[in-house]
Amino acid sequence: MSTSGAAPAPILTEAELKLLQALVYQECGMHFDERRTHFLQDRLLRRLKECRLDSFYSYYRLLISNQGKEELAKLLENLTVNETSFFRHKAQLDLFQKSVLEALFKHKSARREYSIRVWSAGCSTGQEAYTLAMLVIDALAYYYLRNPLPINVPMPKPLVPPPWRLEVLASDISYTVLRTGQEGTYGENQMSTVDYGYRLRYFDKVGERYAIKKPLKEMVHFDFHNLKTEYLPQRNDVIFCRNVMMYFDEAEQKRLVEKFYRCLNAGGYLFVGHAESLLGLSSKFQMVHKDSGTAYQRIEVRE
Ligand SMILES: C[S@@+](CC[C@H](N)C(=O)[O-])C[C@H]1O[C@@H](n2cnc3c(N)ncnc32)[C@H](O)[C@@H]1O
Repeated sequence: MSTSGAAPAPILTEAELKLLQALVYQECGMHFDERRTHFLQDRLLRRLKECRLDSFYSYYRLLISNQGKEELAKLLENLTVNETSFFRHKAQLDLFQKSVLEALFKHKSARREYSIRVWSAGCSTGQEAYTLAMLVIDALAYYYLRNPLPINVPMPKPLVPPPWRLEVLASDISYTVLRTGQEGTYGENQMSTVDYGYRLRYFDKVGERYAIKKPLKEMVHFDFHNLKTEYLPQRNDVIFCRNVMMYFDEAEQKRLVEKFYRCLNAGGYLFVGHAESLLGLSSKFQMVHKDSGTAYQRIEVRE
């Protein structure tokens, strides 16, 4: 009998752990190996207590039931790691801005296609997506400084010179982080990697916080997409999926890279985290490497 009066924590059996691991994998692709089992157990226990259930098996039954959809979404949110920052991994961003965008602008201008679509897949709280939008806007301005447009640009100058259109899609599996990204306000501690030039041009100071300016905000669209599902956003010129695949096992990584291939326009580029790579996952991309930055360009296969 418990002397403290509190009910003892339910024990997670090996069989229950396997069931729950398999369910999480099936739902979102996240794989919890031995190194991360402790984290999974901890989060499962928290959710189980929140639902006032007394065994992990009853919790599993709830998750697979029709009434359990909302709880399943909450569990998945609790299992994600949302660490991110503005201008993360500078070498990759330099490669994106100076080489990849330059090549895309040239290629598209020659074909009179004036739209750029960039997807931040697994965007967390939005810093990556807003960073990409700022980099594209600056790269376009610099491109047109050297190659002036044959038309009069309206005054005041819009962020993106017409006829160009920029669309940045930011997606995640967690509604909580998507709401934060959509709100677009950040505290001083989240701004340490944003230099004052960027702060001045793209942020307003609202009380103690920094708010993304409206014209920039309007170019970034936040949406729920689970990377485990088959149908993902198409026609992207560039996909950033950084520090997401590392939580998937190899089979799931291979499936995801194959889907990304189909989600890219011909010759489009994929960026993965600086500790991740496509080595052994796909032969449909060629590596582009410059000054410590790496990207993967879609190889076009002749029919
Ligand atoms: C560590 S953050 C990376 C954020 C950003 N890409 C970066 O590198 O700074 C990983 C994000 O991937 C998201 N994620 C994990 N599994 C996912 C899935 N199956 N579908 C979509 N997003 C997922 C998580 O919710 C989390 O916000």
